[in-house]
Amino acid sequence: MPTVAAESGTRGRGYPQTLQRPVISSNKLRQQVWHNKSTPLFFASTRHCRQEIHIGGNNKSLNDCTNCRIAYPFLRHLPRVISSTQLDCLKIPNSEIASSHFVSFELTLHCRRNNSMTTSTDHSISRRAKQAAGQPISQLMGMALSNPNIISLAAGFVDNDSLPVTTTNLATQKVLAAGETSKAALQYGSNNGDEQLRTLVLEQAIAMNHAASDQAANYQTTLEQVFITPGSNQLLYLIADTLLDPGDIILCASPSYFVFIGAVKNIGGRTIGVATDNNGIIPRSLEEALEQIERDGNLSKVKAIYTVPYFDNPGGTTLTAERGQQILDIARRWSRDHKIYVISDEAYRMLRYEGPDVPSMHHWDPSLEHTIVAGTFSKSYSPGIRVGWGFLPTDLIGPLGDQKSNIDFGAPLLAQRIMATILEENLWLPHVEKLRGVYRQRCHAMLGALETHLGDVSGCHWHKTNGGLCVWLTLPEHIDTGMQGTFIKAAVEAGVLYVPGEFCYASGGEPANHSTIRLTFGVQSAERITQGIGLLSEQIKHWQ
Ligand SMILES: Cc1ncc(COP(=O)(O)O)c(C=O)c1O
Repeated sequence: MPTVAAESGTRGRGYPQTLQRPVISSNKLRQQVWHNKSTPLFFASTRHCRQEIHIGGNNKSLNDCTNCRIAYPFLRHLPRVISSTQLDCLKIPNSEIASSHFVSFELTLHCRRNNSMTTSTDHSISRRAKQAAGQPISQLMGMALSNPNIISLAAGFVDNDSLPVTTTNLATQKVLAAGETSKAALQYGSNNGDEQLRTLVLEQAIAMNHAASDQAANYQTTLEQVFITPGSNQLLYLIADTLLDPGDIILCASPSYFVFIGAVKNIGGRTIGVATDNNGIIPRSLEEALEQIERDGNLSKVKAIYTVPYFDNPGGTTLTAERGQQILDIARRWSRDHKIYVISDEAYRMLRYEGPDVPSMHHWDPSLEHTIVAGTFSKSYSPGIRVGWGFLPTDLIGPLGDQKSNIDFGAPLLAQRIMATILEENLWLPHVEKLRGVYRQRCHAMLGALETHLGDVSGCHWHKTNGGLCVWLTLPEHIDTGMQGTFIKAAVEAGVLYVPGEFCYASGGEPANHSTIRLTFGVQSAERITQGIGLLSEQIKHWQ
């Protein structure tokens, strides 16, 4: 939801008498929304009230506040006023809805409720929760879901057809067919997770690192350092919550994973973006960012460097082994008065379509002095099971474990036992191989279509990723791809949806490039990807 500009006082001419009297609290929203007849479109709040606004459907209601009035000028029509006793007015006849899928309107919600009312929902909601509203992901999902024909190159979903129903069914039956011991899978588990699964993920990670490197490493990571979480997002949130006080800093790639940027912001921390090239974060730029922070007297606030070293979301870049070691070295050198951690978010490690694997930073820091590894089965098996893991430095086991026990005191055990069985029965790696085949073809389709349509369009460039699910596209700088610009509306009307790059930038550091786009190839077939890139390219050329 866009920022709501607060407005109070009287309304001007053109509004009925009832609204010309001073109002206690009002808010004005100006936005363009995807027209959808069946879903609530958005929420509007004053200091006292939060109302769900429906347009074009039948289920109209103003919440329990009888003092609310809504005024809206619809398209080019005169302002209308709707009160709780005139609910039918909210039913906008279809003839008034432009043929365009986008509906533009301005709406003002007034509330005359007395300031002393203490039952107001708005007043009860915490600042953090209010700040969390309007995350880009929900706006974009709303756009995609409301038009089934749109080719969404925005969603971070995985391929639906290859979701592993048969192997999951086998594993689930095995977990639940063991009589009394099956009952353990339906009980609460331990805070840091199922021991068997922790053993398996640690062994698997170490084996992969050994296989990817010709240098030996003396791993001293213990099982106590391994945590299982319901998806790695929970782990990332816990890390931020454990490390950050308000105003503290996490350095990250520019651009970076927007859910993590949002989590840091929500906790009151700041992200500082560091310049990247085709191999991810540039170590020299990281060093310069730290020097600047030190000059500003803020070094004590720097708590971690966040990296997505394999096929970054959104950049698609992979850190070379050398870069991984350089970043770790920078974290060690700048840990003067306090420790600076390196978060290695390895969500896409298994989705490699070409070339040899690269050892994790864990390999260069085998007892995890500075490195925090975050992993997940969401991309390489199933996000519906939602099992992730973390390998933690020993000094974080207690504090992060305490935070976790405040939240869920252990990830759901059934999902963990199912995943452990899938690993034990050797069902995971064959599935990963199958996924690689599916995504490799789609990745090639996307890169090929970009080359065909935009290869010779000046100002357009993209990273030729060889893994993951994202392609980062930069357009000529006069094209604003953001939610407030008109390009995204033209693209949606043409039938293609993307994530505006502006969402993927940190709160400070490298400035946002508003001519960027995150494309994903996980969901659509190769044919639809080719078609979608064709539609997008037509718009880009049209805007040249
Ligand atoms: C970079 C990155 N990290 C972490 C995650 C979280 O995945 P999950 O919480 O499903 O394990 C995602 C999901 O899209 C991601 O893109």
